[in-house]
Amino acid sequence: MNPFERAEQAGAELVERLGGRFDAAVVLGSGWAEVAEGLGAADAVVAAETIAGFHPPSVPGHGGTLRSVTVDGRRVLVMAGRVHLYEGHPPADVVHGVRAAVAAGCSTVVLTNAAGCMNPTFGVGQPVLISDHINLTGQSPLFGPAPPEGYAIRFTDLTDLYSSRIREAVCRIDPTVGEGVYAGLVGPHFETPAEITMLARMGADLVGMSTVLEAIAVRHLGAEVAGVSLVTNAAAGMGEALDHQEVLDAGQAAQSRVAEVLSTVIKVL
Ligand code: HPA
Repeated sequence: MNPFERAEQAGAELVERLGGRFDAAVVLGSGWAEVAEGLGAADAVVAAETIAGFHPPSVPGHGGTLRSVTVDGRRVLVMAGRVHLYEGHPPADVVHGVRAAVAAGCSTVVLTNAAGCMNPTFGVGQPVLISDHINLTGQSPLFGPAPPEGYAIRFTDLTDLYSSRIREAVCRIDPTVGEGVYAGLVGPHFETPAEITMLARMGADLVGMSTVLEAIAVRHLGAEVAGVSLVTNAAAGMGEALDHQEVLDAGQAAQSRVAEVLSTVIKVL
C-alpha cells in the first residue's frame, strides 16, 4: 500500500473509532501535551498504534494517543506522540498522522513544537506563531513515486505555507504573540553555536526538529497549516548549555500562556 492509501485507511479508521469526521487537528509537540488537556475533555480516545500505519510506542506504556475534543462546536483531533526523523523514521511515516487527519476531514492542521530561539526579543516561555520555515532536513514527504491519481502533483507551492489569515486573526486578538521563521533540522543533537549564527543570518528566529515535513504534507493535500512554537531555550551559544530536561521544564512552566494561545488559534479557524 502506498503512503497516501495507508493514510486514507487510517483516516477512515479515525472517523469510525472517534465518532465522526473532524474539522481541525492539533499536533502536539514536546511540552504541549498537558496544554491540550486544557482544551476540554475528550469525547473519545484511541491509542495511536491501533490505527493503520501509526507506530507502536518506543517506550512501553508511552505511546501516542488520538483524541476527539469539541472546542467551540468544532470537532478537533488532538494528536500526541509525534514521529520524528531523528528516531530513524522515513518522511512518509513522519507525516502519516497529518495525512490521516486530513483524510479524516480536517481542513486545518495546527502544528505545535518546542523550539530554541535566536531572536533576543523572544524569551523562554513565549509562544510564537510560525510565519515561515527553512527546511534543513534535506528531506521531503513528497520524495518517491508520484502521488496517486486524484492527488495534487508533487511540485507543491509553499508560498504562504503558514496561513497568513490565521496569523493575522490571532495577532488581532492577542498582539503579544510573536511571529518568526522556524528552521527545521534533523537532530537529535542540538546545534553548535556556529550553526546557530548561520541560521540567524539565514533569517531564522527559531530552531527545532519537527514540523517542516508535516507542514509540506498538509499543504500538498490542500489543507490550511498553522504553526506555534513554544520557546523553551535560548539557542546554542546564546545562553546556558542546552539540556533536554530544561526544554521539558520550560514547556511545563509556560502551560497557561500557551493554552491561551492555542485556544485563540482554534477560535479563529
Ligand atoms: N534546538 C533544536 N531543537 C530544539 C531546541 C533547540 O535549541 N529546543 C527545543 N527543541
